Amino acid sequence: MSLLPTTMPSLKIDVRTAPLGSPDLITYFVKGDALPAGVPLSEFDGTLCSTLVLRDKTGRTLVVGLGEKEKIEPDTLRRATGAAIKHLLKIGGAEAALDLTLYPDHIAPAVEGAILASYKFQGFGKDPAKKGRSTLAKLQLLVTEHEVTQARVQARDAEIIATVTNTIRDIGNLPGNMLNPSILAEKTQELAKGRSGLTVKVWNERHLESEGFGGILAVGKGSSHPPRLIVIEYMGGGKKDKPIALVGKAVTFDTGGISLKPGAQMDEMKWDKMGGLAVIGIMLAAADLKLPVNLIGLIPSAENMPGPDAYRPGDIITTRDGKTIEVLNTDAEGRVILADAIAHARLTYKPSAILEYSTLTGAVVMALGYRRAGLFTSEEKLRDALVAAGKRTGELVWPMPVDEEYKEGTQSEIATVKQIGGREGSACISASFVKTWAEDTPFVHLDIAGTAWTTKPPAHLEGGATGFGVRLTLQALRAGLPV
Ligand code: BES
Ligand code: MN
Ligand code: ZN
Repeated sequence: MSLLPTTMPSLKIDVRTAPLGSPDLITYFVKGDALPAGVPLSEFDGTLCSTLVLRDKTGRTLVVGLGEKEKIEPDTLRRATGAAIKHLLKIGGAEAALDLTLYPDHIAPAVEGAILASYKFQGFGKDPAKKGRSTLAKLQLLVTEHEVTQARVQARDAEIIATVTNTIRDIGNLPGNMLNPSILAEKTQELAKGRSGLTVKVWNERHLESEGFGGILAVGKGSSHPPRLIVIEYMGGGKKDKPIALVGKAVTFDTGGISLKPGAQMDEMKWDKMGGLAVIGIMLAAADLKLPVNLIGLIPSAENMPGPDAYRPGDIITTRDGKTIEVLNTDAEGRVILADAIAHARLTYKPSAILEYSTLTGAVVMALGYRRAGLFTSEEKLRDALVAAGKRTGELVWPMPVDEEYKEGTQSEIATVKQIGGREGSACISASFVKTWAEDTPFVHLDIAGTAWTTKPPAHLEGGATGFGVRLTLQALRAGLPV
């Protein structure tokens, strides 16, 4: 079974000044532009992501709306291109030429949009050929003569980032019976092998036991598929530069454990691993892009199941740095495995900052919905850098508080902290909980519970795992994280 994106086995990207062969042409349309002859305004008015197919003797042109001129930003091109490619694949196109002559500064987002839109999880149906959608095989980028060189650079980096994103979406879309912690670890090793500069180490349960990772072990105990800690190192920076640590929650399936979840939509908890996959994606792309930074990726992975050995409400767990947790609801498992991994990042690597990604709470979905992830940090510069990177990449984040006041929520009589507080402010209390293990290390928590997957996809995407966090973080790293 191949786990690499099967929808685009070998996409060829070519930067040109005029189309070659007979690709379908994709052109962009700004509201208020003159409409193509014969097209009534009622049919097409240039609204962002709306599409119109025109046919003449020379072939097909797909016109896609960019909305209002003043509002065009990089994500506009990303989304519009995605919507156009999605439409094209539905009508059987496989070779497209994007007319980017008017948008030389937006070549990267356009390429990202095209590649991201061309991904669709193949699934395991009987006849994959009958999915009613073709595969994007060739993409031409049409630019003016003097933009060719910079366009190639932009396109190459965008291709790396979007392709890696599709790879982790593809693994992310695998259900719990096909992906457990040890399989995730193997896949990570496989993906790292073909790349220079990455080392992957996988800790099994005996290793976790000997190093005192009581959190990951407790959550993993209910499952017959034991937990893992995946450690990825990328040293692209100076020998003496402190690394940045990236920590990602990878619960391969979250039933809630003994505090079992209700049945409705429980299937979606196969995506409870997307924080970990975001970290894997960032590490892979950092190596492909040869980023001049040192990064440590830590991915604690477990399956949260009820069972005879499962951890229970009332249990007291000792984590990697000796802090103890009073368990009160086994469904709050993410923070328990993150506690070990964050402590390990702090103690072993002394990083300049810890960025942590997790589908941590339903509460953040109530607060922010599906478009923005919750960004919890008390580091103002990191916050501003990530908000800016979010705007640039379309992976929006919204600052949320993690002040001292939220610590009250998790005070315990019998352990260092209790696992949960009340319902009020619980996204913030959860953030404050995980921050406890970072101590004085600058810390960012991204709650991606609302953004990591989509069941109501917008025009430029298919449903399923989104890969949220990869583009955001790479953009922030490339711009230089203020750490
Ligand atoms: N993985 C869930 C959070 C989640 C819920 C993500 C819905 C996306 C959609 C997490 O492990 C969880 O179950 N959190 C609980 C915490 C509660 C028991 C304090 C929650 O949010 O309900
Ligand atoms: Mn849970
Ligand atoms: Zn969970």
